[in-house]
Amino acid sequence: MDKLIINGGKPLFGSIEINGAKNAAVAILPAAILASKGNCIIDNIPNIEDVHCIERILKSLGCSIKTNKNCATIDSTTITSLSANTDDVRKMRASYYLIGALLGRFKKAKVELPGGCPIGVRPIDQHIKGFEALGAKVKIMHGSVLVEADELIGTNIFFDVVSVGATINVMLAATLAKGVTTLENVAKEPHVVDVANFLNSMGANIKGAGTDVIRIVGVENLTGCSYSVIPDQIEAGTYMIASAACGGEVTIQNVIPKHLESISAKLVEMGSEIIEDGDSLTVKSNGRLKGVNIKTQPYPGFPTDVQQPMSTLLTVAKGRSIINESIWESRFKHVDELKKMGANIKVEGRTAIIDGVDKLTGAVVKATDLRAGAAMVIAGLIAEGTTEVLSIEHIDRGYPNIEDKFKAVGADIVRVYE
Ligand code: EPU
Repeated sequence: MDKLIINGGKPLFGSIEINGAKNAAVAILPAAILASKGNCIIDNIPNIEDVHCIERILKSLGCSIKTNKNCATIDSTTITSLSANTDDVRKMRASYYLIGALLGRFKKAKVELPGGCPIGVRPIDQHIKGFEALGAKVKIMHGSVLVEADELIGTNIFFDVVSVGATINVMLAATLAKGVTTLENVAKEPHVVDVANFLNSMGANIKGAGTDVIRIVGVENLTGCSYSVIPDQIEAGTYMIASAACGGEVTIQNVIPKHLESISAKLVEMGSEIIEDGDSLTVKSNGRLKGVNIKTQPYPGFPTDVQQPMSTLLTVAKGRSIINESIWESRFKHVDELKKMGANIKVEGRTAIIDGVDKLTGAVVKATDLRAGAAMVIAGLIAEGTTEVLSIEHIDRGYPNIEDKFKAVGADIVRVYE
């Protein structure tokens, strides 16, 4: 397995280009299944393992996919199978979007239950509630979700919890339903809006994405379109936090600063300077930052997906910081790794209490999941001495060329291929 070797303690200067959003791309690619005519040409797709996984799954269903750099052309008129049951399906979370997309277009699907990062219990009851409300029969048998409907009919659905996955999945199924579907208490994340925009470019009639209520007027069919995925809010947030942690001055390019407001606000509260300029922002930090409290929340609150990178920064901030992780109950698995480097953190249930130390010291640590991996890379960048980050296949699932991006701003980081 590859590993990253980092010699820490260097300030970062320069600029980092952000790629397309993972959690938008892994929904938009399966959403292309809904097009019964024409090709979907999707640009700004990040070169990450989760995207490769979804592309392999789509091919296994019979889709034709041609890729050129960050652009994929998908022809889903050639689909021959409604059953997704490869290792890739079991390995990743976003494979659940195949259920909504196949159900929407073919009124039938069999998809193995999804995998994903071990960050807590990850039920799909709200997805199922939505499919059933639209008229589908849903069964879970032998590890697969089986859905089938004679027809899908629009209705009102009020979600019991705010769920990114359920919002997008039910939206996929409802675009071709008869009549009007109203989804209430929905997720407002930028990637929910991006998927709705993509579907509208294919001919769907979806309004309200980005608010609490999404209204979908069913259409007869969808056709291919050209679309560009939004920049990755979480990748950008990770590099912003790394820049604040290392000190220096880094411009994060190709971002939508509005999507990053909760992260910018926290970094400013800690003592960093953030300068927004069109589609880029610059993070300036000089000296030790001060500790803050954080509660993760659905958008526009502080995103759970940068909680782990942020916790690394807080290990060396002045004073006490308290993190309340309200989305995923097991998203503190990286804490034991940070402790190996000298961090002073106590976890009680969903709360982590961090007392800032003067410095971290290099150690051999592992990426326990995707964002934990980013947290350990940041830890290596700020630590005294050498850090080896193992199990970096987790990082490759969501961060394109992480070592190259850090190297370009002055970090001493190399990938060792084993
Ligand atoms: N939930 C339910 N029932 C459901 C669905 C969700 O109770 O049917 C609960 C979950 O247990 C959780 C909360 O609702 O407590 C939010 O879960 P959500 O459905 O929003 O999460 P997800 O769709 O499974 C996506 C991202 C995650 C990100 C969360 C929250 C993708 C592929 N994954 O997961 O991303 O943490 O939204 O923003 O979009 C990551 O990128 O590192 C990552 C884990």
